[in-house]
Amino acid sequence: MDKPKGNNQSIRKMKNEDISQVSLIESDAFPQLFPPTSFRKELQREISTILVAISNSNTGEKKESSPHSKPIKSPVSYRSGNTGWKPGMDFLTGYIFLWDTTFEESHIMSIGTRRSHRRKGIGELLLYSALINSIKKGARSLTLEVRVSNIPAISLYQKYGMTTQGLRKSYYTDNREDAKIMTVADIQSLDYRHLLNSKWKKLEKRLKK
Ligand SMILES: CC(C)(COP(=O)(O)OP(=O)(O)OC[C@H]1O[C@@H](n2cnc3c(N)ncnc32)[C@H](O)[C@@H]1OP(=O)(O)O)[C@@H](O)C(=O)NCCC(=O)NCCS
Repeated sequence: MDKPKGNNQSIRKMKNEDISQVSLIESDAFPQLFPPTSFRKELQREISTILVAISNSNTGEKKESSPHSKPIKSPVSYRSGNTGWKPGMDFLTGYIFLWDTTFEESHIMSIGTRRSHRRKGIGELLLYSALINSIKKGARSLTLEVRVSNIPAISLYQKYGMTTQGLRKSYYTDNREDAKIMTVADIQSLDYRHLLNSKWKKLEKRLKK
């Protein structure tokens, strides 16, 4: 897939070596999720796509060899102080996990960015990249469920043209909260590609800051 690159973040497919970091990002973003996602299993499933965002300025040892790079800061820690990162690894700032269904539909299973790296455009970069990936694979629509109280996520999805198609009552078992079903239909259309292009122009500038 294309790797939309900003100055400070890039996107690639998840690998086995990312499991420790992605699992920690997931458990911080979704503390009530039980059991946690088996990313090892999902990485082997044909229907799964998992993309990760990488910090280009905070990747551990890699850049130390470049004479032009700034001194390496240790990846910031969050909560328990354990980021899942180890020297030699890319420092991951977020992930998005999708399933391709048989009905030419991509379904977002989850998306999360590190608490320490929110509101920097990373969630948007992940969603944008997932949409580009799904379009290339021939999906016609993108769907997901989101807690009705999750304003940040709902706002992100609305920014990319997703609308509420209905409610799943008491969908979440921890507090019986309802889920909104949000969809964007016809992601293959020219209009939608124009929307993506215009969003990318703004997002790219944001990621270079
Ligand atoms: C939802 C989430 C992925 C957003 O990631 P992020 O990297 O902070 O988002 P971005 O900085 O890319 O923001 C993109 C858009 O999301 C929306 N958004 C993000 N955080 C927001 C907030 N706190 N309040 C309102 N809108 C918000 C805005 O529309 C924003 O666009 P803008 O910056 O032009 O206003 C992140 O908050 C997260 O990981 N939350 C916990 C996990 C979760 O709830 N996932 C969704 C489950 S369905």
